[in-house]
Amino acid sequence: MPTPTRDDKFSFGLWTFGWTAADPFGGPTRSPVDTVFAVNKLSELGAYGMTFHDDDLFPFEATDAERQHEIDRLKKALADTGLVIPMVTTNLFSHPVFKDGGFTSNDRAVRRFALRKVIRNIDLAAELGAKTFVMWGGREGSEYDAAKDIRGALERYREAVNLLGDYVTEKGYDIRFAIEPKPNEPRGDILLPTVGHALAFIATLERPELVGLNPETGHEQMAGLNFTHGIAQALYSGKLFHIDLNGQRGIKYDQDLVFGHGDLQNAFSLVDLLENGGPGGAPSYTGPRHFDYKPSRTESGEGVWESVKANMAMYLLLKERAAAFRADPEVQEALAASKVDEINTPTLNSGESYDDLIADRASYEDFDSAAYFDGKGFGFVRLQQLAMEHLMGARG
Ligand code: GCO
Ligand code: MN
Ligand code: MN
Repeated sequence: MPTPTRDDKFSFGLWTFGWTAADPFGGPTRSPVDTVFAVNKLSELGAYGMTFHDDDLFPFEATDAERQHEIDRLKKALADTGLVIPMVTTNLFSHPVFKDGGFTSNDRAVRRFALRKVIRNIDLAAELGAKTFVMWGGREGSEYDAAKDIRGALERYREAVNLLGDYVTEKGYDIRFAIEPKPNEPRGDILLPTVGHALAFIATLERPELVGLNPETGHEQMAGLNFTHGIAQALYSGKLFHIDLNGQRGIKYDQDLVFGHGDLQNAFSLVDLLENGGPGGAPSYTGPRHFDYKPSRTESGEGVWESVKANMAMYLLLKERAAAFRADPEVQEALAASKVDEINTPTLNSGESYDDLIADRASYEDFDSAAYFDGKGFGFVRLQQLAMEHLMGARG
């Protein structure tokens, strides 16, 4: 089994292994995990980072002194282990005040309170050296169409993100924002439900360069979408600022399974893209490999740490398989036969105009479109079979 090291840049949310497993049908099945214990454990298991919501570290009602006490304990544990905090995020969803959202609650006073809570947490993120601030708007949405003016809500979302962009810029913080899309849960419908919706929203902002995405595997898959496609478009747009890796089995509630324990072949293509999809086969993404999963309610404390290890093991195993896939001469030959790289050749010759195209008889008048019936297959199934054989460890 491959051993994780800090160079792998694995990070975990404090709320992931720390989940006490209460769900809408039953109470907790486990005790809370102490922050200092968690930092030590993650460090020992080979992770490099931990992330958190403000309310994971100290309760919503904490006094200033209680808050500071928890921050100091965390800082000491980080100093003792060398673990880092690459990302921080704000809880705008648990407390009753956020029942209709934070930045987009119909109640203006709640929106002002939400902004203050986030600003305070951005100061903490900067203090701890976090480079990414995630915004997951789980409560930003509605159940009833008549209850929410969606255009107004998007305008308020924009107002909030613009203000926070001004704040980090004027404070000189080295922090960028990453919006995390999700289609539903806890709201019936959440604003910015997919990678595509969020990309379109970002383009309307005053400082679009400061805002990117934190896509989560399961969230795109809950909408029946292909996560690898979403990540590829985020990369194409220069917006993959962070990533939440986990597992999901089809269109249903948010399962937050261990990475690779859902759609395994999509996890394989994702790791191949992240690790080998850059220029010359280099990684296409160099940020944290962040796991946002929930150890199932069936697990004891011991099972929780097994599941932490399982996420990292799945990633490293898939990385090994993807490297073997790329190195296999038969795969290279199959990729060429499938013309996979031909998509990178522009459709027009350099300097060619539409007049030139229209004058080119080979492109139309003399083009043999009939040859595509009973011939000229693309061989994609053979290519996919080679990928699956590598994924299953049946080759190299
Ligand atoms: C979910 C979400 C959350 C967010 C987290 C960061 O599972 O619905 O992923 O876990 O990632 O709250 O703000
Ligand atoms: Mn999730
Ligand atoms: Mn997430």
